[in-house]
Amino acid sequence: MPTLNWIGKEAVVNHHREVPYHLLRCDEKLSVGDPGSGNLLVQGDNLLALKALLPYYAGQVKCIYIDPPYNTGNENWVYNDNVNSPEIRKWLGQVVGGEAEDLSRHDKWLCMMYPRLALLREFLTQDGVMLVSLDETELANLRLILDEIFGKSSFIGSFVWNTRNTDNRVKTYLSPDHEHIVAYGRSKGVSILGRRIDRSDFKNPDNDPRGPYVTDPLTGKATAAERPNLHAYSMEQPGTSNVWKPDPAKGWITDEAGYKALLAENRIWWPPNPTTGKPRKKRFLTETQERMPASSFWTEFRAISGAKEVGDIVGERVFAFPKPLSVIQKVIDHCAPPGSIVLDSFAGTGTTAHAVLAQNKLDGGKRRFILVEMDEGIAPGVTAHRIRKIIEGYNDAPSLGGGFRFCNLSHPIFDENGQINAEVRFADLAAHVFFTETGEPVPKRPSGKQPSPLLGVCNGTAVYLLFNGILGDKRPGGGNVLTSRILDDLPAHDGPKVIYGEGCRLGAARLKRAGITFKQVPYEIKVS
Ligand SMILES: C[S@@+](CC[C@H](N)C(=O)[O-])C[C@H]1O[C@@H](n2cnc3c(N)ncnc32)[C@H](O)[C@@H]1O
Repeated sequence: MPTLNWIGKEAVVNHHREVPYHLLRCDEKLSVGDPGSGNLLVQGDNLLALKALLPYYAGQVKCIYIDPPYNTGNENWVYNDNVNSPEIRKWLGQVVGGEAEDLSRHDKWLCMMYPRLALLREFLTQDGVMLVSLDETELANLRLILDEIFGKSSFIGSFVWNTRNTDNRVKTYLSPDHEHIVAYGRSKGVSILGRRIDRSDFKNPDNDPRGPYVTDPLTGKATAAERPNLHAYSMEQPGTSNVWKPDPAKGWITDEAGYKALLAENRIWWPPNPTTGKPRKKRFLTETQERMPASSFWTEFRAISGAKEVGDIVGERVFAFPKPLSVIQKVIDHCAPPGSIVLDSFAGTGTTAHAVLAQNKLDGGKRRFILVEMDEGIAPGVTAHRIRKIIEGYNDAPSLGGGFRFCNLSHPIFDENGQINAEVRFADLAAHVFFTETGEPVPKRPSGKQPSPLLGVCNGTAVYLLFNGILGDKRPGGGNVLTSRILDDLPAHDGPKVIYGEGCRLGAARLKRAGITFKQVPYEIKVS
């Protein structure tokens, strides 16, 4: 398989593994509505934010939609990742400029995108789908790195949508009037839901007791030489003299026996004007699947301005090119079933959150969103502001309900000496330990339940954490040391156990008898 090379590639292909885990802290003042709605907006660089979110959401997200900088040369984005490579350290903090003055512009974009895409894939469910908006500037590069990260056979397709109805000739006589949304599955064989059938297309002009129907052609695709039995009869409308001979180049879709069966079941629709129309087959709504294969070509959005939509909500034109709500709502409808989690790590004005809430309102779904936006001004001032307005209702638009938590990135979980940061609470370390031990998110405790040293069970092995005096501080080390008494007090598990704690006073034989692997905090916790 062909692969792409660029300056800095070697330094970034595994960079997502080295990114330190940070704490996430909720800002109550910027959070809105029901805090238990499961929706989240994180302000921070998405490389750090995604790593911080991973212990909670790995393998849980059905649909990722991102709209990263297109690298057009006009966006003023900055390459800022803390990658330890002399070759690319000199890029840090510099605004990525236009084609002529910045020869490494595409290398920087690829270095920025690669670790983020690698991290994003880890969030997807086995049947999850990732969609990336882009124009032609980096399209070819994106496809090659997605082939590398997701596997070439995970490519589902590319939606092309018509972005404008005015002339967009800038430097040449070609007016680029479309953008792409590239879709990859988590792995090979993942498909998307497709588009919904339009129920209003189904009618019942002859009051058929089977209900509304549409009609499909009865004309076939084979010549008389190829399929003589599909040309061997004419269709005759009962009670009339109307007769239709088979088209010599196409024949019918069924042989005479099949035609007679359709006739007996009153499944043939006869055209009101026999000279212009042809008989067709009834397909009833009750027999039709809810979804059809999605078309890759979207023409209906050409006259919609995302900037105007956002301006109408937040009161001014605050953002250059937000996506039209209906484009992202179509993505959600095609790729995120009603109970799923949707992630957007380049959130901008929060169109994805708006689309999730609007689609839930439309079909009664309970989708949740996770958004990440880096810009300190945009995240609270535009993204959170817009989502608040749509949750609470604005102008004549009714409230879409729900709520979200606004979070900031806080300290790293481990300091530079590998010690646990003083800010870290039991729940923070629990999520980290369970995830790095099992690769899965820590199971949620029912709300109102006290935290437990038994974090959860994965593949038959129970994972325990003794930290921050979880069992009360009358015991040695505040209950952080595994002693005989503490072992007796731990919630039981009939099977192997991994216990993380500050120390262990039990001998090797006792640990073996009890099926315990002991791991010392912090030294045996994986830090990245
Ligand atoms: C093209 S805009 C997204 C617009 C969005 N789809 C909408 O409809 O409003 C890209 C956004 O990603 C943000 N961004 C760029 N780099 C980022 C990063 N490393 N982490 C998080 N956000 C980032 C930018 O601040 C910008 O708001």
